[in-house]
Amino acid sequence: MQIVVDLTRCQGYAQCVFLAPEVFELHGEEGLLYATAVPDDQVERVRQAAAACPVQAILAGEG
Ligand code: F3S
Repeated sequence: MQIVVDLTRCQGYAQCVFLAPEVFELHGEEGLLYATAVPDDQVERVRQAAAACPVQAILAGEG
């Protein structure tokens, strides 16, 4: 699984950090975070985080 966080959309709601703290990390005042390759054991958490983001800033896809 690959993920991209659209930082032009991210408002720092931090739902992603709450749901998948091993993948997402907040940096600075409003920025974030992220990994581009998601470990297998984190895939479900990342899906939940993508669904939970209020502004749909997390784009998750296979590959
Ligand atoms: Fe940003 Fe959405 Fe996470 S707004 S901090 S990507 S929950």
